[in-house]
Amino acid sequence: MSVIFSGIQPSGTLTIGNYLGAMKHFTELQEENECYFCVVNQHAITVPQEKKALKTNTKSLAALYLASGIDPEKSTLFIQSEVAAHAQLGWMLQCVSYIGELERMTQFKDKSSGKEAVSAGLLTYPPLMAADILLYGTEIVPVGDDQKQHIELTRNLAERFNRKYNDIFVMPEPRIPKVGARIMSLQDPTRKMSKSDENKNAFISMLDEPNTIIKKIKRAVTDSDGIVRFDKENKPALSNLLTIYSLCSGKSIEEIEGMYEGKGYGDFKAELGEVVAETLRPIQERYNNLINSEELDNILDHGAEKANRRANKMLAKAERAMGLERRKR
Ligand code: AQP
Repeated sequence: MSVIFSGIQPSGTLTIGNYLGAMKHFTELQEENECYFCVVNQHAITVPQEKKALKTNTKSLAALYLASGIDPEKSTLFIQSEVAAHAQLGWMLQCVSYIGELERMTQFKDKSSGKEAVSAGLLTYPPLMAADILLYGTEIVPVGDDQKQHIELTRNLAERFNRKYNDIFVMPEPRIPKVGARIMSLQDPTRKMSKSDENKNAFISMLDEPNTIIKKIKRAVTDSDGIVRFDKENKPALSNLLTIYSLCSGKSIEEIEGMYEGKGYGDFKAELGEVVAETLRPIQERYNNLINSEELDNILDHGAEKANRRANKMLAKAERAMGLERRKR
């Protein structure tokens, strides 16, 4: 049994990239591990968010966790801002981070490039993420491969803190799925699929209607040779669609290539649309039952209580180690 932590930002409605790269794996993990799943709303505000949308997206993300199979009896599901220890330890870890190492983070470079004004929070996001993970004694962090660099930084900060103050933090390991770790944009296969992409045709949201899904896949860019074959180098867009097909249907890539031998992209895309819509249908049904329910708020209240209890213990240890504690708690 390992301790597992994972956070997702409510910066839009989740995409099938978030689902196939992260969320889909959580339900299996909760069977044999102590799992903490967090809606990281404080990470979302590192870039501008509209107040009403953030509030809606936060609850919607919590409902999507549950609709995808997170069982509140087995896992702790909570909202980051409801557990103050995250921001408190985050600040302490900012003070052991170096500006240079934060500026080297690829996500910071991507999200700040070309922007006139960039928040300080965008730069100091990784120490807050490190706090999220380290507060729970996390051993495994299931993520897509875009987050690997942040987990490495978390390990460096934990190691630096342990060496300088006291050996209290557990070293977390990333767990990256072999297939689907990076689902790419439907409009530009060189960019990962992101929920905050301005082009809505670039991603499939987990709450898109079947007709929208089918249309977006029809509009997805491909190449011009018309052969359904996996070749990441020369056919990146089609290979991305094949990966999505395989992960949603459970069929191997070879099997799918065989099914479309001699057929064009039209049939392949039409059927892929159906496959994706069918994958999301039961999740959307459960989501619709939950989103306005009292049950959702009760689960989140209970989750925050459990997370606070656990996180405050580690926070107290870290404060003691750094000399921030006045009286023994
Ligand atoms: N395209 C992707 N393919 C596979 N996995 C992905 N993840 C995100 N995009 C893909 C994984 O989803 C988890 C939650 O990510 P997040 O929402 O906290 O942050 P993110 O990686 O920045 O996701 P987005 O969708 O790109 O958000 P925005 O647009 O707000 O920046 C992580 O485990 C991530 O690896």
